[in-house]
Amino acid sequence: MDIIEIIEHKRDGLVLSDEEIHYFIKNYVSGEVKDYQASALLMAIYLKGMNDHETAVLTEEMRKSGDVFDLSDIPGLIVDKHSTGGVGDKVSLILGPMVASCGARLAKMSGRGLGHTGGTLDKLESIPGMRVILSEAEFKKQVTDIGMAIIGQNERLDPADKKLYALRDVTGTVGSIPLIASSIMSKKLASGADCILLDVKYGSGAFMKTLEDAEKLAFTMVNIGKRLGKNVKAEVTDMDQPLGMAIGNNLEIKEVIDVLNNRGSEDLKNLCLDSGAVMLVQAKLYDDIDLARKELEKNLLNGRAFKKFVEFVAAQGGDTSYILDPSKFEVAKNIIPLYSAKDGYVSRIDALKIGVSSMHLGGGREKLDDVIDMSAGIILNKKVSDAVKKGELIATLYTNKENTKEIEEVVVSAFEISDQKVTKNRENLLIQ
Ligand code: URA
Repeated sequence: MDIIEIIEHKRDGLVLSDEEIHYFIKNYVSGEVKDYQASALLMAIYLKGMNDHETAVLTEEMRKSGDVFDLSDIPGLIVDKHSTGGVGDKVSLILGPMVASCGARLAKMSGRGLGHTGGTLDKLESIPGMRVILSEAEFKKQVTDIGMAIIGQNERLDPADKKLYALRDVTGTVGSIPLIASSIMSKKLASGADCILLDVKYGSGAFMKTLEDAEKLAFTMVNIGKRLGKNVKAEVTDMDQPLGMAIGNNLEIKEVIDVLNNRGSEDLKNLCLDSGAVMLVQAKLYDDIDLARKELEKNLLNGRAFKKFVEFVAAQGGDTSYILDPSKFEVAKNIIPLYSAKDGYVSRIDALKIGVSSMHLGGGREKLDDVIDMSAGIILNKKVSDAVKKGELIATLYTNKENTKEIEEVVVSAFEISDQKVTKNRENLLIQ
């Protein structure tokens, strides 16, 4: 067997054998297969696709390429959650304490933001003192003791994905369902949780631009989970407008604090309640989804979920005085209000434009080594279906940069205002 033959097989639209996939991953990680050969195979997979069996085998080979976390000595079923990424997506930071306050144990490894999407680790690091690198022993102890930990990806986990993802990024092969599914699922399976809830986003701010593609990706990942004996469910949710009101690191942490105190935007709160209820059922803590949702709601109202968040921040070294008094967070020097040019109803807020603008204000990174301004970002003052008057505030920019005229224009253009009130997004789907 050699790599050229494997590339030719996929180029000609054939199904790769288990042995061929094993050969590729093993020899790519060792350096035997070169980047230019892997690029050719990735492009062939991008163009010709993979069936469910090939995708599951690819996932398993990638998972086996490095360490696999063993969480079996933590009592109970361990839950994990993963979003395919978006703008203003701070759900994990709300969901974690919510489900942990109801007795679940969340063990989560998160990533950093790149391009228009934010990263959970960066958001956490906007809390002074917060540590996102813990040893395996510290991680497991924290999950056991307080019910949740969120840390950075272990370097030794899934080296195949690390190499392949970097290569896909520069070869136009990111947007392929089998490649995205194997990339996400191999990492999730290596991190050791028993139950995984995926949030597959669609819309302008997401990888998947259409609902159809998002559903296909969700089914593919749930099927991989089934084949490999894991409890995996996937929600398919809207990312056509940003989630919640805040985009940018410490702005999002302040919104997390709001929602955990039962304030904040309804779309965000409802997604957290829906997702949390699914996770509590997956963890076998409840058998009824409505009952689980009620319990979560109760813990938002009685302050237990917020208390759990404070406990989590303290456990990872964060300064909890910021959580108890969010006015302590640094505020950007320039606060720029933006106004509507006409009367009507907000019919769309282009999440991609908002995400890119937040990055340009200093809130995100274009390249992995860019330094983030934790106080930069955007607050949305209106959401889809809200009525708006000419001259009324629609968004507020926070930045330490000067000369932001172009960014201001992009943010205003992200808001589409129509004469008719549009109904809110469709219900979220759950695929299981
Ligand atoms: N997130 C990942 O981890 N991998 C992808 O391929 C896309 C999103």
